[in-house]
Amino acid sequence: MTDQALFLKNLWYFAFHSSHLKPGKLVGREIVGERIVFGRDSNGKVFALRDNCPHRGVPLSHGWFKDDTLQCCYHGWMFNTQGVCTGIPAMPPDATFDASKIKVFQYPVEEKNDTIWVYVPEKKLPNTKPKEPAPNLLLAPDKKFKHVETVIMPADIDHSVIGLIDPAHVTFVHQSWYWRSAKKLKLKEKHFEPTAKGFKMVRHTPSSNSKGYGILKGGTSTEITFEIPGIRTEHIQVGNKEVVSITVLTPINDKQTELTHIFYTSIGLANLLWAPLKRLGKQFIGQDLGVFQKLNEGLQSNPTLSLIGEPDMQARWYYEIKRLWHKAQQTDEPFVNPIKPQTLHWVT
Ligand code: FES
Ligand SMILES: [Fe+2]
Repeated sequence: MTDQALFLKNLWYFAFHSSHLKPGKLVGREIVGERIVFGRDSNGKVFALRDNCPHRGVPLSHGWFKDDTLQCCYHGWMFNTQGVCTGIPAMPPDATFDASKIKVFQYPVEEKNDTIWVYVPEKKLPNTKPKEPAPNLLLAPDKKFKHVETVIMPADIDHSVIGLIDPAHVTFVHQSWYWRSAKKLKLKEKHFEPTAKGFKMVRHTPSSNSKGYGILKGGTSTEITFEIPGIRTEHIQVGNKEVVSITVLTPINDKQTELTHIFYTSIGLANLLWAPLKRLGKQFIGQDLGVFQKLNEGLQSNPTLSLIGEPDMQARWYYEIKRLWHKAQQTDEPFVNPIKPQTLHWVT
């Protein structure tokens, strides 16, 4: 078994916002290079199956879905929402063959706060149970996230993660007039601590050269966490109100990664101003997408890359956490987070 892997397994991956999975519909997705079909049964409960018919491999998502039965579009084989074959139309009635022996792999799924997550195991064994709880989204069960934006980054998961946790690009990529100005650079000092599967920038008062934060008056503090495989959660406390802003990366394959931004706030005014806020979020992500298209252009010639000093330290941590997670899955030993509490500095 190799020491490196592009995709980590035995982890939960974000599939989509709940609004993307309408009752009665099948949605096929490629996640970490695996085809997965999602649907909701008649009770509204989400299910996820391998999106290949066990007969000849056609995606089940191209078929029909009715009365909790998926039917393949090629020869009409039928499956229940647990992936068990319930009928083969062409089989003569006197055949003694037991169709229920044919099974499509069923992925564990979870729907929480209006987001849908799928657990991708290292080995596709029947009745796979997650070894990990689904990510902590910092919200009470009855609260719901709003969907801001989803874009496809033309990059693998590693470049996408590094772009997400990289502090130094903000000055150059996101220098909108209302957000921050490149002329007002400051030396930042941030304290970090390990979390279960990543690290967090411990709660602090956001930088005063961000006007985006400046409009949130009154005892503002923020805590930013990153965990593998690619989830960045930001919890902002504004007096007794809160904002939860989550950016999550889902590898599609080794060339593309889906980035989704979801948002929750208990600030009434922010919900009233949702349309302009959403536009702001989309603009932000658009700026990242723009620079990623340029990055993709540069990476075509396979240049040698470097991660230098404290501004790039979080990227190094990511690679180290990833390497050790992968190793722990191969050896079946517990993952031990290598990150120690420490302080990083950078100018942005
Ligand atoms: S490929 Fe699905 S029924 Fe034949
Ligand atoms: Fe960015």
